[in-house]
Amino acid sequence: MPDTKANPETAGEGNTMGRPYLIVLGNEKGGSGKSTTAMHIVVSLLREGRRVGTIDLDARQKSLTRYIENRRAYVEKKGLDLPQPIELVVPKSELRTADEAEADEKQRFEEAYLNLADKVDVVVIDCPGSDTFLSRLAHTAADTLVTPVNDSFVDLDLLARVDATTHKVAGPSLYAEMVWKARQRRAMADGSSIDWVVLRNRVGALHAKNKERVEGVLNELTKRIGIRHVPGLGERVIYRELFLRGLTLMDLKEAGGLDGKGLSMSHVAARQEVRKLIDSLNLPFRQTASE
Ligand SMILES: Nc1ncnc2c1ncn2[C@@H]1O[C@H](COP(=O)(O)OP(=O)(O)O)[C@@H](O)[C@H]1O
Ligand SMILES: [Mg+2]
Repeated sequence: MPDTKANPETAGEGNTMGRPYLIVLGNEKGGSGKSTTAMHIVVSLLREGRRVGTIDLDARQKSLTRYIENRRAYVEKKGLDLPQPIELVVPKSELRTADEAEADEKQRFEEAYLNLADKVDVVVIDCPGSDTFLSRLAHTAADTLVTPVNDSFVDLDLLARVDATTHKVAGPSLYAEMVWKARQRRAMADGSSIDWVVLRNRVGALHAKNKERVEGVLNELTKRIGIRHVPGLGERVIYRELFLRGLTLMDLKEAGGLDGKGLSMSHVAARQEVRKLIDSLNLPFRQTASE
């Protein structure tokens, strides 16, 4: 897929459903790469000419929003012309009673989405690493749910209870149950389904045996709880450095590499990884566009 700036021929195609396509990054664990992956999805789609909006529901950390703010500052400082999303934040309600707070959050979530609806083709929502009402609203509304997990049983524990000796799945656990309920609510609301993609992120340093077991559990979960699992981002230091500059691997060529040092072989390999990841999301509007 070539790196292109806003392309009037493809702009608007995400809107074939009459509303923006909704991609939600979620799991109930911090540090698995939700915000980093969100930013790479956002910029990849921007570079294909789509208009993209973001809603940050992790108002405590605001990593995605800070990433985008860093991007604006870097672009200005270096005189670059890089595509930008429209970014919104929906913080938790401060109302006292649970009912009031939930009604307030629902209203503000819907307002944010409506605010973006006629301006963008795709909305990317970044959730906090905990179970909140706002996060559940986002999960229910998702067209594609992306869940990055580190390749370890600690992370898989959120998806399934795994028997310690046989490594067989004993049953779904907390997060999988939350997604199950979101899928039920969604089916009742408009009869549509949520494509749930689990990304194996930050793979690399693991023992081969462990990797095989994790893969085995994910294969079983494909049937049991309806996930698709695909490779995500490899473990690379560059992701931390990119954050401070607000850049993604998809911008590096145009930015002349990190601080003008050019593109290394490992940057090119990493960029390829991101492209594969975006392809494996099977986003319906991209498929129609490339047919
Ligand atoms: N593939 C990766 N390789 C190395 N570091 C990563 C990778 N993905 C994320 N990180 C780093 O890990 C930390 C947490 O990532 P983040 O995307 O904020 O996760 P989350 O949003 O799930 O909490 C950040 O410092 C980020 O730069
Ligand atoms: Mg985050």
